[in-house]
Amino acid sequence: MNAVILLGAPGSGKGTQAARLAESLGMPHISTGAILRQAVTDGTELGVAARDIMAAGRLVSDEIVLGIVEARVSAHDCRRGFILDGYPRNRAQARALGEVLSRLGATEWIANIAVPAEELAARVRGRRGTDGRQDDSEEAFRRRLEVYESESLPLLDYYGDRASNVSGLGSRDEVFGRLCAALPFATAQLVTQ
Ligand code: AP5
Ligand code: MG
Repeated sequence: MNAVILLGAPGSGKGTQAARLAESLGMPHISTGAILRQAVTDGTELGVAARDIMAAGRLVSDEIVLGIVEARVSAHDCRRGFILDGYPRNRAQARALGEVLSRLGATEWIANIAVPAEELAARVRGRRGTDGRQDDSEEAFRRRLEVYESESLPLLDYYGDRASNVSGLGSRDEVFGRLCAALPFATAQLVTQ
């Protein structure tokens, strides 16, 4: 079982690339942000608890997101592997994920999509209005970036050599090519298809 973990700032292209990897590799794309947004839309208990936190650009509690991830990766369609987009986002989540993955006997493949802050802001600005994401407002985006820098960036130290750094600049195809090259199991699988 292969667990792909995509790290990167808000707007770096995690969702875009996770969807492409999922399609090419035939593995589910698991976005904690998308699952939470769906819960907000559906007005479930989870959605009600997460709505204001997300709109403000802050992190939902570790306990809640771990529950989501544990349930999702245990599903039958994840038996060959899965692509994680937006989890983990801090050291506590990374430790919890490590335990889940070792319990599942999964091999982890970690890639960090690196994009400069000016480009992140331009991308999210470009998306504003079309995606209807409340957290794309100037203020919420600024907060998401701050949270990323203080909480999620330290994951690069946490994972050290286990994480490959991939430039997220250039076209979507170029970034996808770099990611596949940084994920040896993915390259092998794509070649044999
Ligand atoms: P989440 O949904 O994960 O949002 P995010 O990390 O802030 O990132 P985005 O989804 O905005 O960006 P992305 O990296 O996916 O880039 P995308 O492909 O869209 O989380 C949202 C919220 O949920 C959090 O703030 C938090 O409240 C909560 N949450 C989620 N996970 C959590 C967790 N683990 N713990 C606690 N709370 C959690 O690309 C961005 C734009 O750029 C798009 O318009 C795209 O089309 C464009 N683009 C992509 N690639 C390129 C390219 N190469 N060139 C030009 N444009 C490009
Ligand atoms: Mg996303």
